[in-house]
Amino acid sequence: MKTLKIAVLPGDGIGPEIVKQALQVTQVVCEKFDHRLEYQEGIVGACAIDATGSPYPDETHKLCMQSDAVLFGAIGDPKFDNDPKAKVRPEQGLLKMRKDLGLYANIRPVSTFPQLLHKSPLRADLVDGADFMCIRELTGGLYFGRPQGRSEDGNTAYDTCVYTREEVERILHLAYNFAGKRRKKVTVVDKANVLASSRLWRQIAQEIATKYPDVETEYMFVDNAAMRIIQWPKSFDVLVTENLFGDILTDEASVITGSLGMLPSASIGLHTSVFEPIHGSYPQAAGKNIANPLATILSAALMFEYAFHMPEEAACIRKAVTASMEAGIVTEDIADGAKAYSTDEVGSWIVEYIGQERK
Ligand code: IPM
Ligand code: MG
Repeated sequence: MKTLKIAVLPGDGIGPEIVKQALQVTQVVCEKFDHRLEYQEGIVGACAIDATGSPYPDETHKLCMQSDAVLFGAIGDPKFDNDPKAKVRPEQGLLKMRKDLGLYANIRPVSTFPQLLHKSPLRADLVDGADFMCIRELTGGLYFGRPQGRSEDGNTAYDTCVYTREEVERILHLAYNFAGKRRKKVTVVDKANVLASSRLWRQIAQEIATKYPDVETEYMFVDNAAMRIIQWPKSFDVLVTENLFGDILTDEASVITGSLGMLPSASIGLHTSVFEPIHGSYPQAAGKNIANPLATILSAALMFEYAFHMPEEAACIRKAVTASMEAGIVTEDIADGAKAYSTDEVGSWIVEYIGQERK
């Protein structure tokens, strides 16, 4: 019997409600496949600032480091958003966690669900069958480059985009390895016509491409990529890019599938991997039992796949999620006028489905 040790960080807003469902799904999968689950909760984000003054307390970091995987909800609280003088923000907790755990790759699979095609802002024939993977560099670029700040008189501000060869090489290798297991195409997205950091990316990509002769490489400027994602999403297989470009393009890519409430993500790197939905803390819905738990439940599936190398367990979760949509047991964001179920009801239905299904 294998013991799976996970850190559970619900965070703020709807985080606790959706993580609760994903945790119950994780528990039933462990029962079904005879794994022992050990989990411990930690605090992060606004709730951690309130409790300790830090958005990512040392204790939470220790817990993550001692675990095999982290299941993460969301962070953010509107009380911090319009205060330009706030010294500490919940988002800093997320950035610190990524940096301290060395999570240099954020993987966001974008795939469509037949039941949701009509919800996409794009024509169904454009998105039907779209299936690509965005790989975003997560610990470099403008998010972390120094210097960053203001001039003494406060009237000039600057951020710095820095990338080293090592940082670019490791994320590109990861992208090529994923592509090798998929449809064998990598799109390297940059702004090499303007930015020095992008020219380094492109130079290194050209070197690395020769090491993966069976994978096709396509180079694309980020503005063009933004257009192509909505114009012809099916043309992508693995898209790899730097931190800020990836932040922007993955929000864009997420909506083509019909709901932001559906997409999971995995952040992997040097230490413990983190699995979280790509949506935020949705504070307006907090405590109302209406948030869609599917992105977090699908993040648990990614956790079984990437952290525990258990593809059958992951497939079992995905099958149950599909079944819930087919049965119409869904939250209001995707219910489409039909009866909407609560966060709890959707989670419980999936737990029960997994419990009853034959292995
Ligand atoms: C994301 C989020 C974060 C980011 C914020 C909350 C700091 O938008 O995970 O995409 O910009 O990376
Ligand atoms: Mg983002």
